[in-house]
Amino acid sequence: MPVRLLLIGDIVGKPGRQIVTRAVRGLRIEERLDLVVANAENAAGGSGLTPVIYAELIAAGVDAITMGDHVYRRREIFALMQRERKIVRPANYPQDAPGHSFTVLRGRHPVPVAVFTCLGRVFMPPVDCPLQAADRVLAMLPADVRVILMDFHAEATSDMQLMGRHLDGRVSAVLGTHTHVPTADECILPGGTAFQCDVGMTGPHHSILGRRIDRVMETARTFRPTHFEVASQDARLLGTIVEIDPNTGRATGIRRICVDESAADQLAAVVDASVMQRKTRSETGKNL
Ligand SMILES: [Fe+2]
Ligand SMILES: [Fe+2]
Repeated sequence: MPVRLLLIGDIVGKPGRQIVTRAVRGLRIEERLDLVVANAENAAGGSGLTPVIYAELIAAGVDAITMGDHVYRRREIFALMQRERKIVRPANYPQDAPGHSFTVLRGRHPVPVAVFTCLGRVFMPPVDCPLQAADRVLAMLPADVRVILMDFHAEATSDMQLMGRHLDGRVSAVLGTHTHVPTADECILPGGTAFQCDVGMTGPHHSILGRRIDRVMETARTFRPTHFEVASQDARLLGTIVEIDPNTGRATGIRRICVDESAADQLAAVVDASVMQRKTRSETGKNL
């Protein structure tokens, strides 16, 4: 049986969290997902993550969380990042930066899955070489880990393509986050690595990258600073599903997904139906 992984693109604010809560359990059933990973660097008010929101996302059915350049916007996350193994910081941050540079998890499928992230270097804060950082992570992974997902948090498509080619044949997937805009270049590279420059944003799409259009526009036109409040309309969950051969770690399929609000309601109904089915089955069992 293949391993089926979903990477959810940058979750932005409350609208992003709400659609994750409505959709993920249904997606797990409908798409037969073994593991769900989400980038949550914008989950708290559009920037950073708090322990309460971390717990909310895990309760919604997310197995692991990756972070990006906004990882330390909320100080209260430092201790949790040190303690928890379901969340990772960029692996090309300094060694003493709070948090772990990779994690190995077991989802519904029995094989272990490694997850890590690095920041790109174009239009990003200065960080270590992501190519070398990725090599260091791979050297640290236990030998039995063949299924590996890398979230490459980068601005430039050239950075993304470099990483995809650098890791081709050595990881199962290199999927991008950070730009909040999905790219239509999903493919499987010659060595068997699934690749996409950016999986997109999970949040309000009537916006500028998740923020209110009027606020961003005002600052862009007048240079007067405004609060870039998270927008509220047209929430969508964007992400990419990768299917992987557990014996080789090679990808056998990749597909973009977009769940809008009405699709999320349908997915919530799928969960309700499956709960009802299980309840009926256990009650019938009791009567026998
Ligand atoms: Fe980012
Ligand atoms: Fe982001």
